Amino acid sequence: MTLPVSIVVAAADNDVIGRDNRLIWRLRTDLRHFRELTIGRPLVMGRKTFLSIGAPLPGRESIVVTRDPGFAPDGVRVAGSVDEALALAQEVGARMGADSVAIGGGGEIYAQTMAIADRIHLTRVHVAPEGETVFPRIDPAAFREVRREAHPAGPSDDHPFTFIDYERR
Ligand SMILES: NC(=O)c1ccc[n+]([C@@H]2O[C@H](COP(=O)([O-])OP(=O)(O)OC[C@H]3O[C@@H](n4cnc5c(N)ncnc54)[C@H](OP(=O)(O)O)[C@@H]3O)[C@@H](O)[C@H]2O)c1
Repeated sequence: MTLPVSIVVAAADNDVIGRDNRLIWRLRTDLRHFRELTIGRPLVMGRKTFLSIGAPLPGRESIVVTRDPGFAPDGVRVAGSVDEALALAQEVGARMGADSVAIGGGGEIYAQTMAIADRIHLTRVHVAPEGETVFPRIDPAAFREVRREAHPAGPSDDHPFTFIDYERR
């Protein structure tokens, strides 16, 4: 059985997701949402995103994509291509009893997995910051919106945001 692949992303109204290899907002509510969507699952991410987080996220099996054969940090699995990462994620996910594989970014990895993703969990953050890393356009012919939930900024959130889920048509 193949596990569905879910992209999990927080993107601003102008599609920006990061600047200088950092996140550009503090959104406690979205961090909780990200945790719920990724916990107990394999989590595929690019080398830059992994370095920006700085350590493997607990309760998940991190799979880091890099072309550097010498990159071998503790506590993560390393894949030399996106295809290799996705194949490894399926194996690891089956062993964990996971219900899906999560794609955690960043921009390069989202761009290369959009074509095979089954679902997108988008947090649309209502701000338009400067930043060089963007989330690719979601093709409405490929994905349909299945859920939308607007949230005001909570006490530990910098901006209001909306959770929007898409499924492949
Ligand atoms: N808002 C969000 O939801 C969110 C989520 C995640 C990240 N981010 C932000 O996104 C930014 C990072 O994104 P990014 O696009 O710069 O980098 P990235 O996608 O995290 O990582 C890019 C790296 O992945 C490796 N890679 C990419 N494609 C590959 C392939 N086909 N085969 C092998 N390796 C491959 C390369 O590593 P090597 O150079 O080692 O070969 C490449 O430099 C940061 O600002 C971060 O904060 C935001």
